[in-house]
Amino acid sequence: MANHFFHLLLPLFIILSQTTLTSQFDYIRHPPRPLIHTPHLGSESDPQQVHISLAGKDHMRVTWITEDEDVASMVEYGKVSGEYDAIAEGEHTSYTFFFYRSGKIHHVKIGPLESSSTYYYRCGGHGPEFSFNTPPSTFPVEFVVVGDLGQTEWTASTLAHVGNKDYDVFILPGDLSYANTHQTLWDSFGRLVEEYASHRPWMVTGGNHEIEFFPIIKHHTFKAYNARWVMPYKESGSTSNLYYSFDVAGSHIVMLGSYTDFNEGSDQYTWVEADLGKVDRTVTPWVLAVLHAPWYNTNKAHKGEGEGMRKAMEDLLYKARVDVVFAGHVHAYERFTRIYDKKADPCGPVYITIGDGGNREGLALKFEDTSELSIYREASFGHGRLRVVDGTRAHWSWHRNNDSDSFVADEVWLQSLTTTKSCWPSTADKDESKKKGDEL
Ligand SMILES: [Fe+2]
Repeated sequence: MANHFFHLLLPLFIILSQTTLTSQFDYIRHPPRPLIHTPHLGSESDPQQVHISLAGKDHMRVTWITEDEDVASMVEYGKVSGEYDAIAEGEHTSYTFFFYRSGKIHHVKIGPLESSSTYYYRCGGHGPEFSFNTPPSTFPVEFVVVGDLGQTEWTASTLAHVGNKDYDVFILPGDLSYANTHQTLWDSFGRLVEEYASHRPWMVTGGNHEIEFFPIIKHHTFKAYNARWVMPYKESGSTSNLYYSFDVAGSHIVMLGSYTDFNEGSDQYTWVEADLGKVDRTVTPWVLAVLHAPWYNTNKAHKGEGEGMRKAMEDLLYKARVDVVFAGHVHAYERFTRIYDKKADPCGPVYITIGDGGNREGLALKFEDTSELSIYREASFGHGRLRVVDGTRAHWSWHRNNDSDSFVADEVWLQSLTTTKSCWPSTADKDESKKKGDEL
């Protein structure tokens, strides 16, 4: 009887298996899609390229650009639409690049703000009202992570998927506009992302496409990036906009610069060492690091480009028990196990490369032979979400763009190293480091 039952179920099992295999392995990789040029449709005094970023405890920095230089760097805001009971003034800047002259770039810090609240705001006394939500002060908190975003039709698709499900903070591990030195592409990018970046804080770090490179004198600058995307570096004790840190609801996030000096004795190294040294895991049980060129990578693209920085800084992050290191640069998705010094280590960070936001260059399709350190890898466009549930657990998911839909192709539960006693010498208990199943 049991044998007969098995024969009846066997065809069904084969069909289900084939369905699973088809969805897993026969996914057709999509080619790059065309650039989107986003024009400014308002008046010269209307705000454009509006985006917000966290700016120290309880504050938000509002950034926007006007073509009219007489518009004041002023933000009106409040918790009721159309009724602004607070006003803040800030600063402005502009820059030139050969024949290009930027608009007036306004930066206004507003607050103190209440957590988990909706605020409505207007920039410079002109144009439409915008709104944003402040992150929560306690868990749970959700981060969206998207690298190498660009401004193509894939970018629009990724952002639409991001916008379909709520989150608290957007993290971008470098390569924003792919402007290189074409300054008008920065403006177009700012307009394309405004719908999202004016609505939730965008915390970014620089990639190679942010660099303005001058070949003969071999000089490189981040002129446009630093003028347009001011991050809370002063608020976190850094002297450079290229590296900084911030706290959100029990998480400390360190944003590093892959293209500024990182060697021992450098300003960045000294700052990171001090910043990580101040972390109190009873206040921020989760510590995340974000950079552009990955330290671990089994893709053939950009092989070894992060190696110098890894050699210089891996010890710092390892000793601080950083939980996850996010990188971009490689136009694919890859998730590693916990690693230290090229070997699996239960006290090392989980490394995740997520450079597949939608850039114009297409995907990095060729991976090397499999590595026991690499858990999941796939060359498809998409975005990631880290939902930190509490001081112990977080859920990571990678959402592949399936044309107009989004599909969770990889997911895993992570455990904060704060809870792994064997990773803290004073409370060593080696046996507890042995993790089981897919929980890392
Ligand atoms: Fe890059």
